[in-house]
Amino acid sequence: MRFPILTTALAVLSTSSTLVAGRTYLFAFGDSYSKTLWDPTGAVPTEQNPIGNPALPGSTSAGGMNWVGFMVTKFNTTSVFLYNFARGGAVVDKTLITNPVFYPTETLDFVHQVQLFNDTLTKHPTKPTWAPWTGQNAIAAIWIGGNDIRNTWTILDMPNRHKRMITRYMEQVENLYTLGVRKFIFLTTAPTYLTPLQQKLTAAKYNRLISAVTNFNTQLLASVAAFKTSHPKATIRTVDTGPAFMTAFQNPTDFGAATATCYNSDGKTCLWFNDYHPGYYIEELVAVDVAKAWGGSFQCKEAICSNTASPTPVPTRTA
Ligand SMILES: *[C@@H]1O[C@H](CO)[C@@H](O)[C@H](O)[C@H]1NC(C)=O
Ligand SMILES: *[C@@H]1O[C@H](CO)[C@@H](O)[C@H](O)[C@H]1NC(C)=O
Repeated sequence: MRFPILTTALAVLSTSSTLVAGRTYLFAFGDSYSKTLWDPTGAVPTEQNPIGNPALPGSTSAGGMNWVGFMVTKFNTTSVFLYNFARGGAVVDKTLITNPVFYPTETLDFVHQVQLFNDTLTKHPTKPTWAPWTGQNAIAAIWIGGNDIRNTWTILDMPNRHKRMITRYMEQVENLYTLGVRKFIFLTTAPTYLTPLQQKLTAAKYNRLISAVTNFNTQLLASVAAFKTSHPKATIRTVDTGPAFMTAFQNPTDFGAATATCYNSDGKTCLWFNDYHPGYYIEELVAVDVAKAWGGSFQCKEAICSNTASPTPVPTRTA
């Protein structure tokens, strides 16, 4: 089905500053696919700017709004404030990466993002009055792993290396639980083999990258399932990010892009913002899948939620 060009306008922002009883507090952890570069020492989220600072859409790597921005301006059914700890280049634990390919100065790995969460939003030392979150009204969303794989996929010992990363990942999840978080959304690592950069790989390398992403996600989902069993009071949803990327990749012209591999820093002319980062439409498709998976504070009523093509699995290559 043809896909209508989306309107880009933000939801009309309310000017009311009254406390909303039904407010949801969303904590995001991850890398450049999620970052808005919230500075916890700056402005806190308000109705006017639910990401606090900088101004919407924040400092993203998407050429505009990324998936968390959509969650708190377009797919929210109630007031949702975002506290975004994601940073460009982030890995789970940088001590597990011996030769990093890419480390921007803004990087905080997931371990340190959770520490910063602890230092800013919890009772250590004082729970802030501007974020009266509880286990009931707060959700942590975690989307990471792309840089871990990007830094390590060519070296040997993949399953064991991923096992160490996932162990550290789940230790941070346990820390969030200890700090009072009870609701979690886990996004699987993105199919980065679809990016323009990795589409240029030879068949053997490309297939290896696919198997790295698959292996990481298989281990992640198994660990999340175990966490769910051992933490029956937690509410947990997992979101496979593969279909969002594949839907766009397999139908680029439906999203106004000439090809599946062109990129443009305006975020909209092509599916990709640059050779490694998704633009507006893929980010929106990810948000759609998160909104559908969670329900409750999030709902998607837009055309994009129902009229996009179902993607088919992306095959490995023979040449
Ligand atoms: C969604 O969030 C925006 C931005 O904070 C807000 O203006 C809007 O009222 C919210 N939508 C609903 C249905 O609460
Ligand atoms: C949170 O920070 C406090 C104070 O630094 C520390 O004692 C505590 O162990 C931390 N908690 C977690 C779960 O990381």
